[in-house]
Amino acid sequence: MAQAYHPEDRVGFANRLLAWWDEHGRKDLPWQHPRTPYRVWVSEIMLQQTQVTTVIPYFHRFVARFPDIHALAGSELDEVLHHWSGLGYYARARNLHRAAILVVDELGGVLPASPDELRRLPGVGRSTAAAIAAQAFGIRAPILDGNVRRVLARQHRLEGPATASKTLRELWRLAEHHTPQDRVADYTQAIMDLGATICRRTPQCPGCPVRDTCQAHASEEVERFPEPAKRPPKRLERRRFFVLIDPAGRRYVERRPAFGIWGGLWSPPERDADETVARFLATAGIDRNLVDETRTGSVMHHGFSHFDLAAQPVYVRLKASPPVAHENGGRWIRPGKHTLGLSTLAVTLLDAKASPED
Ligand code: ADE
Repeated sequence: MAQAYHPEDRVGFANRLLAWWDEHGRKDLPWQHPRTPYRVWVSEIMLQQTQVTTVIPYFHRFVARFPDIHALAGSELDEVLHHWSGLGYYARARNLHRAAILVVDELGGVLPASPDELRRLPGVGRSTAAAIAAQAFGIRAPILDGNVRRVLARQHRLEGPATASKTLRELWRLAEHHTPQDRVADYTQAIMDLGATICRRTPQCPGCPVRDTCQAHASEEVERFPEPAKRPPKRLERRRFFVLIDPAGRRYVERRPAFGIWGGLWSPPERDADETVARFLATAGIDRNLVDETRTGSVMHHGFSHFDLAAQPVYVRLKASPPVAHENGGRWIRPGKHTLGLSTLAVTLLDAKASPED
């Protein structure tokens, strides 16, 4: 009966969600078997801004290469970034590596269990700390990621942009209110699963276990909640990438600065959109007589959270592989045969055919 539940009824909400999860929830995710603190932590960092289906193959490869926190702390950042290549938001990988070193050096290699201590690790915010504490240690701690924000904003018909501080304060209160005393690990997974599979942006209300108390559903306005965040329009950045190719077919890449987009990853040299081949060669210290042929490729688009990038490749085939002037170091690599971290765009740029016979 629809009136049997009140939306603020904690036990009712959690119990209905758990009963649904017992039947329909995801129980075969790789970080659940075994559900060690290390594996939960790695998975929660990978799952920030990224969907489960994308994360799964990366997670398998990552924990096969870095099976525990000591293996991760003892590895080179380049190799960590290599295993993150294509997953995006690379600051996550740099923070994970830094955090592993910190835990090994200062905490005896043992991840802390309390949300407050977990939050001190680089890359671990309030919700991620709670998700780790709940799933790895069974500690009652409310989470509030994008999925949960959507579920709660609809359940309570919460007005206001979901990222406004007033709305967020209320959402955290509701998250705290609904989190049960028992089965917190399952509840945490359940509410995320509900957001990912039922309470999606395009909602699938007929299968929802908490529909009876959903106030947005009652007023037939589910899709109006949560109100979108007010964001300024994204700016467009135009850049040129110079793909140098030596007679053996190797490509030149250089390490990007530690901060900013693709921090610490390797990439073909990036310049302003109006950079000419002649000026590029001069700044890179390459003799223009070494150029065999050049070709300008079509523009590739790549979206970042705050801007859109229009990247134009310029392929420069050389008669030799000269040293290239660059402060962070450069290397000649064969596409597909290296262990460096490359962004998806860099892989595309480097793999693209430079000329018909390449
Ligand atoms: N997003 C963040 N953590 C998640 C998890 N454990 N399962 C599904 N989606 C998630």
